[in-house]
Amino acid sequence: MAIKLTKMRKHYQFAFIILTTIGLLASCSQQEKKYRIGVSQCSDDIWRDKQNSELQIGAYFHDNVELRFAAAYDSDERQIQQIDSLVGTGIDLLIVAPNQVSTISPAIDRAYDKGIPVIVFERKTNTKKYTAYMGADNYEMGHLMGEYVATRLNERGRIIEVMGLKGSSPAIERHNGFREAIAQHPGIQVVATLQGDWTEPTAYKTVKQWLDKNKDAGKIDLVFGMNDRTAMGARKAFEEAGGVLPLFCGIDGLPGESGGIRLVQDSLLDASYIYPTHGDQLLQLAVDILEGKPYEKETKLMSALVTQDNARVLLMESEEIMRQSRNLEQLHEKASQYLDQLGNQRTLIFVALAAILLLLALLAGIYMYYLQRARIQDERMQMEREQLDFYTQVSHELRTPLSLVQGPLDQLLRTNDFRGASDEARELFSIVRRNTHHLTGIVNKMLDAQVGTPIQEMTSAQVDAITVSQPIAAPAEVPEQDEDAPTVLIVDDNADIRTYLRSILRGQYRVLEAEDGKRGLELARELVPDLIVSDVMMPVMNGLEFCQQVKKDGISSHIPVILLTARALEKHQIEGYESGADAYITKPFSPELLLARIDNLLQSRHQLKDLWSMKSATNATAPSETAPAPIEDAFISRFKSLVEERLSDSKLSVEDLAGDMGLSRVQLYRKVKAMTGSTPIDLLRKARLAQAQRLLQESTLSVSEIAYQVGFASPSYFTKCYKDEFGTVPGEARKS
Ligand code: FRU
Repeated sequence: MAIKLTKMRKHYQFAFIILTTIGLLASCSQQEKKYRIGVSQCSDDIWRDKQNSELQIGAYFHDNVELRFAAAYDSDERQIQQIDSLVGTGIDLLIVAPNQVSTISPAIDRAYDKGIPVIVFERKTNTKKYTAYMGADNYEMGHLMGEYVATRLNERGRIIEVMGLKGSSPAIERHNGFREAIAQHPGIQVVATLQGDWTEPTAYKTVKQWLDKNKDAGKIDLVFGMNDRTAMGARKAFEEAGGVLPLFCGIDGLPGESGGIRLVQDSLLDASYIYPTHGDQLLQLAVDILEGKPYEKETKLMSALVTQDNARVLLMESEEIMRQSRNLEQLHEKASQYLDQLGNQRTLIFVALAAILLLLALLAGIYMYYLQRARIQDERMQMEREQLDFYTQVSHELRTPLSLVQGPLDQLLRTNDFRGASDEARELFSIVRRNTHHLTGIVNKMLDAQVGTPIQEMTSAQVDAITVSQPIAAPAEVPEQDEDAPTVLIVDDNADIRTYLRSILRGQYRVLEAEDGKRGLELARELVPDLIVSDVMMPVMNGLEFCQQVKKDGISSHIPVILLTARALEKHQIEGYESGADAYITKPFSPELLLARIDNLLQSRHQLKDLWSMKSATNATAPSETAPAPIEDAFISRFKSLVEERLSDSKLSVEDLAGDMGLSRVQLYRKVKAMTGSTPIDLLRKARLAQAQRLLQESTLSVSEIAYQVGFASPSYFTKCYKDEFGTVPGEARKS
């Protein structure tokens, strides 16, 4: 459980790392820090509009700039409040055109003191607490206008000056410049200086009031309004008053329909002065300050007079600039649309990437989990295998000596020597015998408990039935067997087991011995025993491999193999049968069971022998229900056709036949005998007699001729053999 939790935690950590990486990637790909620039405008009019839109266009060239605009509508309180609140929103720089010099200065100082860079633009403050100043020279502008007026009026005339907002720096400076220039021209008389506030309605009102009051003031030649709107307000008042209109001059010289340039062009104003807005330049200054680049502390913007002479050209130029500005706007709009799309696509790509990575992480997690599980399972299985091997080994170690105690003891109890033993001795032997069986039971149970696999019931039950319950009886002495007895090959690396097995088999069989599978295979091929009893766990070549080889070889394939082993598990038995074994007996074993099994297997071979007796030798195509294995079939067919080919050769010997089949005499003899029950010589004779019988029935040849033809050296010997085989003399067959 703890391992599982740790693993889960690891997976979560992995997912977290991936997500963080994606987040970082996403944020890295975002633009660098955004600069928030606050713009505090004192008024809201076409001059401010133009400047604001230039600022905005300037910002388009810096995609990390955000502008926040505020307009105070010529109100000091409102501008103070707006500056404070812009600072409160966390702006990085303040651009300010202060409504009046002294009233707005404290708010600007507060922003500056907070460490916010301040650009004062176009109007001035009365402290030094600003980072940079940008604007035209208003004094010079007023002065140039004074000079123009004097020239325009040919040094003689009466004029009115209408001021801008009281206390605002351009109004003060323009006035000073204007009046100083006029003072140089004594023919020019300033009839009145009226107070305006930069707006047209106020100018109209002020001039109207003055006109009403001074009806007999005489002719006025020119009115100088400190901006174009002021000049137009004055004009309106004069128009209403009637009479000859004076000339009107203003300042601002804006482009556009109601701008000063067109007013001059249309002769509504006599002259104007271009008061530069330069919003883009202002924005660049702000960015330079924010980015820590070098910048000018004071920037003076250049300006020009607009008169009847140049108004047309200036108007055309300014309209062209405005057209290009509009194009730029549209371009920007398009670009930002594309950028939006790009942004969306990028977000989509990041999301998809994140999903893919998460999926991969998930798959990797699952894969690792299953890998781990498989490894644990493998390890467990390996452990179980090792345990099982260990117990099998132990049990094998115990079973073999147990066989060697239990078997010989049983055998001893049956001998004549034991008959004369005292009751006490018999009782003591019984105790030993009982406990040997008990020990066998314990070994079986031990293996049972370890693997949970039942040891094959039949074997242990049979062992018990035969060995435990059998009364102690004494069989007769067993003599060594003669040449004709069936041969059993014992293959076991334990010499004691071999000796013990020999002692069991000696009474009925001829016994051959081999100490491992390799040697066993040599003997099986060379001497073709009737049956093999083999151990499984042996050096050089184990019993399973040995059994397979025996069954594969044409000469030995027919030999029944009994595997006699301590490997009592069902899976071991299955392995044994898969290697081709005919029987599987576990140690410790009962000698009776072994003998019964051997006898049984040899009996079933005898049934085969019947099948392959003369009938099949003479009638090879007769259908048989228990069809022989193909390899046996091939061997017997080969043998039969050889015999048939050489039937008439009276000198044909078993050596000849064996030689033709590529075998030794012994091999041929034993293989044929084992498979058919007859010797090759017998089969040869039977084949000759069968052929003779056919010839007697089907030909007109004499008995003697037939005898020679089927390979008998003398007709009399043929007649004897024929009678022995068929019970009648050859002449009888001829008669029928
Ligand atoms: C715009 C304006 C201009 C004038 C300037 C003086 O708000 O009134 O018309 O020239 O400000 O600061």
